[in-house]
Parts: sequence; C-alpha cells; structure tokens
Amino acid sequence: MKYIVGNWKSNKKSEGVADWFGDFGQVYRKRAGVEVVVAPSWVHLSMADQARKELSGVKLASQDVSPFPFGAYTGAVAAEMIKGMVEYAIVGHSERRRYFHETDQEVANKVKQVKEVGIVPLVCVDVDYAKSQLAAIEDSAGLIVAYEPLEAIGTGNPQDPGEVEKVVAEIKQMEEGLSVLYGGSVNENNVGEYLEVEGVDGLLVGGASLKADSFSAIVEAA
Ligand code: PGA
Repeated sequence: MKYIVGNWKSNKKSEGVADWFGDFGQVYRKRAGVEVVVAPSWVHLSMADQARKELSGVKLASQDVSPFPFGAYTGAVAAEMIKGMVEYAIVGHSERRRYFHETDQEVANKVKQVKEVGIVPLVCVDVDYAKSQLAAIEDSAGLIVAYEPLEAIGTGNPQDPGEVEKVVAEIKQMEEGLSVLYGGSVNENNVGEYLEVEGVDGLLVGGASLKADSFSAIVEAA
C-alpha cells in the first residue's frame, strides 16, 4: 500500500475546498494499492467529509488534534470530535513543533488520544530527533511515520533520494512494523524518484496538494 497524503495547512477558504473537490472529482479514479488522504483544516472537515462521499476511497486526515480528551480546554479540538469524519490525524508536524512549541510529550499525548478513538496517527519526525520523538510514544503499534527533513519542507529542495532511503531504513529499525512516508518538496515532476525509494511507503505532500491537478498527477504516479 502506498499512502499519498495532501496537507493543505492554513491555505484554503470554503470556496477553495469546494473547488478542489470539484476539480479532483473530474480526474480522480480509485486505484488498488493507493490510499489517497487529504488533510483540510478543522473548519472544513465537515464539508470535505460530504464532498469525499462522491469520491470512492478518498480518506481524510486532521492536521492536528488536542492532546487532551473532551473537557474544559478552550480552543482545542478533541479526537472524539473528529472521530467519524477522519481516518487519520497528522500529529507533530514540524510547523507545529516550531511555531506552536509542541513537545515530544505533547505529540505522544496526541497519539494516545487519536488511537483511543480509532484514528490512525501520522507522526511527523525529522532526522536528528526521530529517535527521541518516537521514544516518547508509549505504544507505537499501527503508527505511520512521516520523515520530513526541515530543509526540504516548502523550499523546493527535496532531500536526495539516496539520503531518504538511508534515513527511512534507520527509522524502520527503531520500531518494527512502522510504515514510513517521505515529505518535503515532492511535486508532480519529482514524485517518481521518491516512490521508487526502497522502504518508502508513501508521500506527505504540502504545496503540490493544493491544486487538484498536481495532486492528481502525484496520485496517478503511485
Ligand atoms: P511541502 O510540504 O510539500 O510543501 O514541502 C510538506 C509538508 O510540510 O508536509
């Protein structure tokens, strides 16, 4: 199974979400062995959930989740609230760690929250810290890990495929049975190189997922 995950970050308004699903619907066809996942913002999850019902097999992810359960945590979205709308939750993205000062322990708590309600955590790690980032997570069964080198995210400079292969192998050695995705400046032109990398189970795509046609080209390549 290859995962192709599109992370829209803070990029779309409602009209943009509707347009994207309209455009993607024109070109998308379900393919065996490819799991297509889109991560809109929380405010658009409900409309995205409606829209994807027309598109067989398209899954949704949240871009984040609260480290706390239901309760008095103003502004937080608990895993229980998105259960039923999303199959996956991205946690610990480097932008969350950098701009929102998330710690490894908070990321581990988020993993626990989503797992409790049956959502699959997609945990982002980078090369220097992958070991401690993963070590904080008590139970790593069923985790999907996205390896995202900081210097490759949003820069147009993806990491050399040979280096990606090396790090992905190292991550897989840390815990048995992990699926590992690569993320960082993947687009419709370089996607083939990264899909071919030994050990890579899929791709986390930011910028190139914002337009339905480029995301669709990436899905087709898988
Ligand atoms: P990018 O983002 O594809 O725009 O580099 C990847 C990510 O942050 O997940």
